[in-house]
Amino acid sequence: MSNKDIFFKRENRKVVAVKLTKSDRLKVKKKIDKILKEKKEIIPKKYLKKIEDISLYHPEGNIAKAEAIILDPDDGAFSTANKLNELTGKEWTKFTSSWFVFNALRSDIKEEQEITSRFKLNSDEHPATFSPTMISNFISFFTKSGQSVIDPFAGIGTTLVACQRTKRKGIGIELNKKYFKIAKVRTNQKIFNGNSLEIDDILTQNKIKNIDFCITSPPYWNVLNRSTGGFKNKREEKKLDYTYSNKEKDLGNIDNYDHFIDKLVNIFVDLKKFLKKDAYVIVILKNVKKGGKNYPIAWDFAKKMSDVYTLKDEKIWCQDKVGLAPFGYPYAYTTNIHHHYCLVFRN
Ligand SMILES: C[S@@+](CC[C@H](N)C(=O)[O-])C[C@H]1O[C@@H](n2cnc3c(N)ncnc32)[C@H](O)[C@@H]1O
Repeated sequence: MSNKDIFFKRENRKVVAVKLTKSDRLKVKKKIDKILKEKKEIIPKKYLKKIEDISLYHPEGNIAKAEAIILDPDDGAFSTANKLNELTGKEWTKFTSSWFVFNALRSDIKEEQEITSRFKLNSDEHPATFSPTMISNFISFFTKSGQSVIDPFAGIGTTLVACQRTKRKGIGIELNKKYFKIAKVRTNQKIFNGNSLEIDDILTQNKIKNIDFCITSPPYWNVLNRSTGGFKNKREEKKLDYTYSNKEKDLGNIDNYDHFIDKLVNIFVDLKKFLKKDAYVIVILKNVKKGGKNYPIAWDFAKKMSDVYTLKDEKIWCQDKVGLAPFGYPYAYTTNIHHHYCLVFRN
């Protein structure tokens, strides 16, 4: 019989093995069997694939009260009371920081370009995309495997790729056919070429309901239409889009600020009935400037959304590899805005 450690507790902020008598060792084994039998539904697959390697964990070393399991003590313990995700306590806590730094990953861009070029498409066409790695981190925190995730502004399918990677079921809506086509070749998840202002019709007609989670990033008002400097010129030179489209239905083409906020909120009002009760909704936004004035899109949107959803939190995404332009120099204080608000609402 193997003598490997099968019971762990917490000591001086570390997970340590508990020395067991023969009878306690039997009790631990029985407890693990009981957990595996009674909690099978909620135990992540990676544990079930390695049943022989599962150990028991209780912070104070109480076998009777233990309800958490461990594969690798360095990764922490998975609580079988975890209703939200498949993370260990250690992984959960790490994600709870109210800010993070993330810069686009070369590996993500390479993967995206390789796949799309095979279909003679160019993912660079989209002027504002995210990394699937960043979105995967959110999806892994806010859902379990097999659950459904919607992105009403799917772009070239970043959220859907993240769903594929994390084995969730993605649903995307994207207005621009060109971006829709790119998303289609990147994943086999559900995506509709449509207008999210009609999200009610799209989801009803396709019999989609009980969605577990929403994560998305809408146009940051009409900020791309107002781009005059380097960004626009560089993209024009390469014959790449510098706005999402010239369609009226495109939220990036609404010039009136209040009108933009209202239309955006309305999409989430319509989405509400398709989400499970308590589902989280994450909307990534950035405050922008126009004519020397700050337009706090994230704050104004959060305020209006709070009439319909509970505003739970914010997680601030910082980019520290974007160059700084001497805005305002030498007369006025004007920031280079390199942080985005990942606003966390709950249904
Ligand atoms: C910030 S981008 C999303 C990018 C996406 N996260 C990605 O990584 O590819 C916003 C997207 O919303 C789309 N969009 C704008 N208005 C829309 C509408 N009414 N319905 C659906 N999509 C819309 C734009 O075409 C654009 O692709």
